[in-house]
Amino acid sequence: MSGKNFYITTPIYYPSGKPHMGHAYSSIIADIFARFKRLENYNVRFLTGTDEHGLKIQREAEKNSKQPKAFCDELSLKFKSLSKTLNLSNNDFIRTTEKRHHKAVNEIWNRLVKSNDIYLSKYSGWYSVSDEAYYDSDEIESKNNIKVAKVSGSRVEWVEEESFFFKLSSWEKKLLDFYQSNPNFILPKSRRNEVVEFVKGGLKDLSVSRTSFSWGIPVPKNNKHIIYVWLDALTNYLSSLDFPDQNDIKYKNFWPADVHIIGKDILRFHAIYWPAFLMAAKLPLPKRVYGHGWILSDEKKMSKSLGNILDPLEIINEYGIDPLRYYLVKEVSLGNDGSISLKSLHDCINNDLANNYGNLCQRVFSFVEKNCDSKIPNFTNLLKEDEIITKNLIEKIPDLQNLMNKQDLNQYIKEVINFSFSANKYFNDLKPWDLKKVNIERMNAVIYTVLNQIKSISILLYPIIPDSTHKVLDCLGVPKNEFNLDCLLNLKYLKTDLSIKKPGILFKKIENDN
Ligand code: ME8
Ligand code: MG
Repeated sequence: MSGKNFYITTPIYYPSGKPHMGHAYSSIIADIFARFKRLENYNVRFLTGTDEHGLKIQREAEKNSKQPKAFCDELSLKFKSLSKTLNLSNNDFIRTTEKRHHKAVNEIWNRLVKSNDIYLSKYSGWYSVSDEAYYDSDEIESKNNIKVAKVSGSRVEWVEEESFFFKLSSWEKKLLDFYQSNPNFILPKSRRNEVVEFVKGGLKDLSVSRTSFSWGIPVPKNNKHIIYVWLDALTNYLSSLDFPDQNDIKYKNFWPADVHIIGKDILRFHAIYWPAFLMAAKLPLPKRVYGHGWILSDEKKMSKSLGNILDPLEIINEYGIDPLRYYLVKEVSLGNDGSISLKSLHDCINNDLANNYGNLCQRVFSFVEKNCDSKIPNFTNLLKEDEIITKNLIEKIPDLQNLMNKQDLNQYIKEVINFSFSANKYFNDLKPWDLKKVNIERMNAVIYTVLNQIKSISILLYPIIPDSTHKVLDCLGVPKNEFNLDCLLNLKYLKTDLSIKKPGILFKKIENDN
């Protein structure tokens, strides 16, 4: 390992229903960045998990006539199993009902008390159980005589009870200073502006405990109060590192986190509350919060409460995991909302995977099998056109790294899939099948060059479609420890004369019947 560490997280999901495409989306994105940082030789820690306390879960459990813990055990398992099905490379899966988490939350609470940021008073105002969020009266509206939060459309109820408050108002200026001196703390830029405007509008103190239900972590030394589920949930990013043990190697290596990947619906919690809690607790702040857009179905946000869920498991069963991973990140521009549909999924599989990268691999491996005795051919001499195609890709790598390090995933994919397009074109233009008759030496050089391109492209696509590219790289005899950018940059070429296998069909072309 390089000694360079990188810590990336997904939101921890409410196990209040089964996981849907929105959850899959956040997790896949985070996995892609995690895998990419490993290609850069970082020691990566990637965390996901479930957010199991609060009134929302308690009510959902009651509806299902289950004890909350038993209910969570069951549903959390579905999220854990989804992370396997999505081929996530997470190092940990945190559940907020675990002891290690309880310990971390207690410590945070005690620190906030110690810093004089907590006081007892009474809350009266609106609360959305579905969002687990407090809203001001100007943030709600009436729809069919029901009061809902404007931002999410979810029902709010009036709450009046004794509550501990966190002195959020006193952190306003420090938050604004922090945003200013860390211009990339909140990305994309548009999200950052929203947050800055919101904070400039003034922050009220935040109710951080409830007394009207019991499912959660009690306030230390005051069992009547349950800690606000968001203060509880956000702490998960620390409990996975065995906080409060700040001597623990995990904490030392990985805090502060490099990036929290979240959906824009929970930006306020991550970009305002979380840094304020951490400042008050005298802990370093995460380096970045990336708030991605929504996956829409019928132009609406897909959500459990709206019941317009596309089931990721059904899609994966039908098409496989790599096509889904590729499609979601190619089709939806990361910072914005995007609609998905079966039709565009089919087009994407056909155009980018089956006809482009898949086809490149199929035809070149077949050619090698028939004409090169299934071996990576030996050659004596490369021509300018061979060197150019190799060089074009290698020289682009630093740019590609920049793109990924600012989470410009869409541009990254575009550039990489273009290399696959160029490699196909190179193969077409140089016609190795013709060369075979007149100039075997030249044919060998061309095949060698295109096989090397396949290797490079596969490594660059590995974070996005790990299964298929792994197969291809295996067939080319590239060992796992060479799945990294250094090997490409140091021009570690394929070994000649090595026997290679042919990968099976990587992506099945889909016949569109509409
Ligand atoms: O909010 N499109 O959990 P949650 C894109 N437990 N992403 C979506 C999405 C959609 N239609 N729907 C959901 C919670 N997501 C809290 C988080 S973190 C300390 C606590 C993704 O189950 C997106 O990342 O409601 C969103 O932020 C998250 O799922 C919300 O999941
Ligand atoms: Mg939600």
